[in-house]
Amino acid sequence: MKTIFRDKNFITLQDWSKEEIDTLLEVSFDLKKKFALGVDTPYLKNKTAMLMFFEQSTRTRNSMEAGLAQLGGHANFLDTSTMQVSHGEVAKDTAIILSRYGHMIACRYCDWGIGNEYLNNLAKWSTAPVLSLQDDLYHPMQGIADLMTIIEKREIIKNLKVSIIWAYATSHKKPISVPVTQSLLFPRYGMDVTLAYPEGYELPDWVVEQARKNAEKQGGSFKITNDMEVAYTDADVVIPKNWGSWVNDQSDEIIDDELESYKDWKCSEKMLAKADDNVIYMHALPADRGNEVEDSVIDGPHSIVYDEAENRLHTAKAVMALTMGGK
Ligand code: CP
Repeated sequence: MKTIFRDKNFITLQDWSKEEIDTLLEVSFDLKKKFALGVDTPYLKNKTAMLMFFEQSTRTRNSMEAGLAQLGGHANFLDTSTMQVSHGEVAKDTAIILSRYGHMIACRYCDWGIGNEYLNNLAKWSTAPVLSLQDDLYHPMQGIADLMTIIEKREIIKNLKVSIIWAYATSHKKPISVPVTQSLLFPRYGMDVTLAYPEGYELPDWVVEQARKNAEKQGGSFKITNDMEVAYTDADVVIPKNWGSWVNDQSDEIIDDELESYKDWKCSEKMLAKADDNVIYMHALPADRGNEVEDSVIDGPHSIVYDEAENRLHTAKAVMALTMGGK
């Protein structure tokens, strides 16, 4: 078991060894149990975190703020539209100053081609750990909560059939960071992952290459299909979710003819019936109800979306406890 995490950045789980992720999961389960029992966990007493948000959030912001309070520390919520970064202050200056005031900088910045680079720039200059709250490429906070949830619901995860499936949505042009993170992470735990999307919604080639390498190392598999039915058939876990066509089209336009031609990529009861009888339906939320998924599915007996969202709290606390405190 790895024990030394202090000041480690959390920008992509690819930078965390499997042993380190195993520790993160163990700490998450321990914190969850203590939360259930009402046991105090003041591991980060008098510690302060700076949470920078360039975009909206419900789960990420509140799991971090509530989580740090429960660990005895304090989180400063920073709406970047009210910070000097909106007047052009560079990442270097922001990182040096904020890390002198507190013990961690976390940031959500999902602009395509900009977000991940900005976070890495913060990390280069910060003297405190930098945590991702989602960028254009990765959402490690979501990935680790999803992994914890799958382990809870399906004890044996080796060769579990997990399908990450593109779904139609019109709410906004969503980042690719959730499917990228899941595609890279789940094969590291030996799962048999199928990634399904209609033409035009590819993930970057390097993601597919790395996901296949991760699968090979752990005895899992990583397959791609353009056929939604193939992905649903006999799946143990389905994760139908929209992402934008960022790899092929960098415009901010939400709705175009290509998107409209894939309206049938919806998680319906009919599709779910093709999966294993005990299939679990997951979604990082927010869901575009009626487009990505039928209400009867997300509110139905196979859905575990609220347990999945709750685990964002326990895993966020584990990430903070290990990187801001500990040894
Ligand atoms: N899943 C997720 O990151 O939710 P928020 O956008 O509400 O933070």
